[in-house]
Amino acid sequence: METIRVQKLHKEYVKWNWQAGRNEPFTEDMTLFTLTTPGSTYALAALESGYLCHVYYGKRTDDEDLSYLLHLGENPYTPKVNSRDMGTFMDTTSFEYPVYGTGDYRESAFMIRDSKGTAAVTLRYKSHRITDGKPVLSQELEDCTVRLPATFADKDEAKTLIITMEEPRTGLEAELYYTAFTGLDVITRSVVVTNKGTEPVDIERILSTSIDIECSEYDFITLNGSWARERFIERAPLHHGKQLVDSARGESSHQSNPFMALVSHNADERIGEAFGFNLVYSGNFIAQAEVTQHKRTRAVMGINPLDFRWKLESGKSFTAPEAVMVYSSEGIGKMSRTFHDLYRQHLIRGEYRDKARPVLINNWEATYFDFDTDKLISIAKEAAKSGIEMLVMDDGWFGHRNTDNSSLGDWYVNENKLKGGLGHLVDEVNKLGLKFGIWFEPEMISPDSDLYRAHPDWAIQIEGQPMSQSREQYVLDYSRKEVRDNIYSQITAILESANIEYIKWDMNRQITEPGSLKLPPERQQELWHRFVLGVYDLQNRLITDHPHLLLENCSGGGARFDPGMLFFSPQIWTSDDTDAIERLKIQHGTSVCYPASAMGAHVSDCPNHVVGRSTPFATRGNVAMVGTFGYELDITRIPEADRAEIPAQIEQFKKYNPLVRKGDQYRLADIFSDNTFDAWMFVSKDKSQAVFTAVQVLGRPNYHSRLIKLDGLDPGRKYTSSLTGEIHTGAALMNCGIAVDLSGDFSSVVIEFNAV
Ligand code: GLA
Repeated sequence: METIRVQKLHKEYVKWNWQAGRNEPFTEDMTLFTLTTPGSTYALAALESGYLCHVYYGKRTDDEDLSYLLHLGENPYTPKVNSRDMGTFMDTTSFEYPVYGTGDYRESAFMIRDSKGTAAVTLRYKSHRITDGKPVLSQELEDCTVRLPATFADKDEAKTLIITMEEPRTGLEAELYYTAFTGLDVITRSVVVTNKGTEPVDIERILSTSIDIECSEYDFITLNGSWARERFIERAPLHHGKQLVDSARGESSHQSNPFMALVSHNADERIGEAFGFNLVYSGNFIAQAEVTQHKRTRAVMGINPLDFRWKLESGKSFTAPEAVMVYSSEGIGKMSRTFHDLYRQHLIRGEYRDKARPVLINNWEATYFDFDTDKLISIAKEAAKSGIEMLVMDDGWFGHRNTDNSSLGDWYVNENKLKGGLGHLVDEVNKLGLKFGIWFEPEMISPDSDLYRAHPDWAIQIEGQPMSQSREQYVLDYSRKEVRDNIYSQITAILESANIEYIKWDMNRQITEPGSLKLPPERQQELWHRFVLGVYDLQNRLITDHPHLLLENCSGGGARFDPGMLFFSPQIWTSDDTDAIERLKIQHGTSVCYPASAMGAHVSDCPNHVVGRSTPFATRGNVAMVGTFGYELDITRIPEADRAEIPAQIEQFKKYNPLVRKGDQYRLADIFSDNTFDAWMFVSKDKSQAVFTAVQVLGRPNYHSRLIKLDGLDPGRKYTSSLTGEIHTGAALMNCGIAVDLSGDFSSVVIEFNAV
């Protein structure tokens, strides 16, 4: 089956004509587009009238002609036969890219305001083209062109269908991009709108995807939370009306993730249907499912239309961010693994995409702001003895920052703390055999900073309105190139001053009083999106100019754990909550969409600084192992017994890290419903090796062990357990399970399985 098939069809129907009072034959010429991935089919049709209708999305279905799913002969209202009730046609037909104002009262994906102030818009099919691979998405701005984060594919890894739609009244053209991956059940979508008319228009909403599904018997899964509680799974049956998650905070946020899934009511990790949607974007978004009057579902995702408007001058284009859609007919687990494979192979870039990341030690929870050169070197010395490979100097090394109330924007070294300068510190750390990494918060400005005193207008603000502080800081106006250039040259100077091999890029507050002192009034509502484009511009420059740099994104913990950020950094700090037990839910929820290879996870000290809980050192290691792994503690002060465990812990991490980075993840327990226990495993792609981890939250009367069914093994092969030495078939391990006997609160076990 070709990845993209195009068929010109001539269809004959008979239909009751209400006006004439009789059955009448009619014909419809259409172009049917069928996109096929290994396990899914996506079909759409351009009708003779120019309407672009959705035909099918779901389990792979090889058939000559799926256009019967348009129900053109059944539906009493088609534009051809019954123009008397066009509104009903608009409000009930499945569309590919629904527009506002012409009778489709479900959520629309596209809405403009023309030069006369009116908003209705029509889009009609004009032409299409198909390309091998996947085009790059970019946004041209006045002073630069920003490459948008998006998945990428070589010529033989995907095909892209581009359908051009035209808007006759305004002269707008919308190009709808559909990429089908040849090896993964992934369809991506994006939209580029170009003003080919003579008058400017304002785009008021431009979502990235919209799918009309014939049924509403689904559960809606989203990932929600708060600071230190990111991406908890919520699942509820769809009901009539709109249910959504969104962000209007200027970042993807702790509160909601730009992810949703529609899954059949019976779906679990192994069975059932799952449609996953993820927006490759780090700013305001909306992800919504709407159950309509006829119990169908419209799922939409894109930039949040709230306070969004983009003035499109004649000749200019606007690019909507990419939406990724994953289909699985083998449960939620398969959906997750498809996302993981896609992001590890087709989103994350750079040399660390496939490389082991250095085991790091970060001084944040060790010292907070209270450190100097000697303290950091003492940590590095002890770390080197234990096999740790990189020291990361976190917040507090610049300006005169001794607490979180100053100096953001003044990216020069505080030599009172770092005596001898940064070069000296880094040299000493390097001499100990450790790499060196550093923390920045490049999008921020403290009121108490030289930068703010020189450029108070560089902060996001509305003239005449008090500016809200959060963590005693403001957000820089990244829509302004001179602001980005200034910060970039400061970062570059630091990078050039010493051998820095890693950056933690933090973002610790959300946007308020959304105004730019530079943008003209008619472009103020572009600020939210221009800010995100500015962040992308700077991160692009950083990793292009420093190809060997390891970048880790972060936002007050995990408020920007989104695919937009993964395009720039192979890893993201998952949460400020480093407690191993809290991390079970955080990492489990994050894994629904994002690979473990991207999750920043550290062993920290006890009692944990966020929740005050004490857990065994081994359990902290076993949980952090499902991530990029590192330490976030004062290694010179932790109990000797814990310190003594570090070398073996690192050895264990290194042994299993290739499986975690490259293997398939299977979630074996549901910590969200059984609050007492979690288990997971990673299996190599060739199914010859697996690592299993189980964590018990609270001990229970030890009357018998738990039986856990493994997953992802080859049923016909035999595997040895590193715990018992016993050999069993994959079938037995998966169908009957293994006995896991854990005793005590917060206990855990790691077991390796090797095919014999
Ligand atoms: C955020 C990060 C932390 C740490 C602090 C420093 O909260 O998530 O890891 O870097 O900022 O201020």
